[in-house]
Amino acid sequence: MGSPILHRPVLLREALEFLKVRPDGTYIDATLGTGGHGEEILKVLRRGKGKLLGIDRDPAALAHARDRLREFGEQLIVQHGNFDEIDSLHAAAGLPPADGLLADLGLSSLQLEDAARGFSFRLSGPLDMRMDPDTSVTAEELVNRSSEHKLADLIFKFGEERHSRRIARAIVKARPIRKTTELAQVVTRAIPSRAGLYQIHPATRTFMALRLAVNRELESLETFLGRALSVLAPGGRVVLLAFHSLEDRVVKRAFQAWKRSGEAVVLTRKVVRPSEEEVRANPRARSGRLRAAEKSGTREAGT
Ligand SMILES: C[S@@+](CC[C@H](N)C(=O)[O-])C[C@H]1O[C@@H](n2cnc3c(N)ncnc32)[C@H](O)[C@@H]1O
Repeated sequence: MGSPILHRPVLLREALEFLKVRPDGTYIDATLGTGGHGEEILKVLRRGKGKLLGIDRDPAALAHARDRLREFGEQLIVQHGNFDEIDSLHAAAGLPPADGLLADLGLSSLQLEDAARGFSFRLSGPLDMRMDPDTSVTAEELVNRSSEHKLADLIFKFGEERHSRRIARAIVKARPIRKTTELAQVVTRAIPSRAGLYQIHPATRTFMALRLAVNRELESLETFLGRALSVLAPGGRVVLLAFHSLEDRVVKRAFQAWKRSGEAVVLTRKVVRPSEEEVRANPRARSGRLRAAEKSGTREAGT
């Protein structure tokens, strides 16, 4: 057996600092993933009676995290679900309003490196890309059943891919496409090959677009942000980690709206990026962007 795939939590120290975890507080990790951030929160809670509600839409991630974090016993409550239902997930856990809420968006290495999940263009696997196996549409269905026009729009909108039309045309010509690596080849061939033009793999943007569409990630994020403050106590903090500009734009806009309405104070005047040292140790951190806000109002004495 190989060693288990480790997901290194991005901007960990910074996220913990903004969350200001108190040993008796209540916290929510809306994207528990492999439990990297969750574990550090739980280490503080272990000094008191605090609780962490860990949520993920991927049952495999939850099983992994539950196992990794079992030493924390009942201080960790785990729930399967989409964070766009954060209010009902929090209510179902029977916890008081939270002192902190973390969402570390996107995929974990556990998902990316599992060929059978279909997220990676480097590993041959089925074109699946669902974070939650209960999601109705797979990437294979989108790739093989969408019109050329719809595919081009999707790749442009969610992948910010300027060659979206060429790519969509090539996909339609090559259909049916069943495997990740087949799709990666079709996309690579469709893009004009000028050496040095692409610093990233030519299929990166198309794969990102399909993943965002399959999981309706930006819609979930908007709904989540619309509900996030409702689960927080006054003075409670929300920390968001985004990995590409589309996500970060949604976060930034929500934070600006909170600031305008006086519902929350934005703690990060500028987006926080990982240090050079962190990127050197963990190249995946490269695109990380952290924003934090604090819900307005003051905590009642003794709470
Ligand atoms: C980057 S990983 C989190 C890694 C985690 N912070 C750690 O240190 O191990 C993102 C996780 O969020 C989950 N996820 C993404 N979108 C979600 C959503 N809308 N609702 C719930 N979980 C989601 C993914 O399944 C994935 O496991």
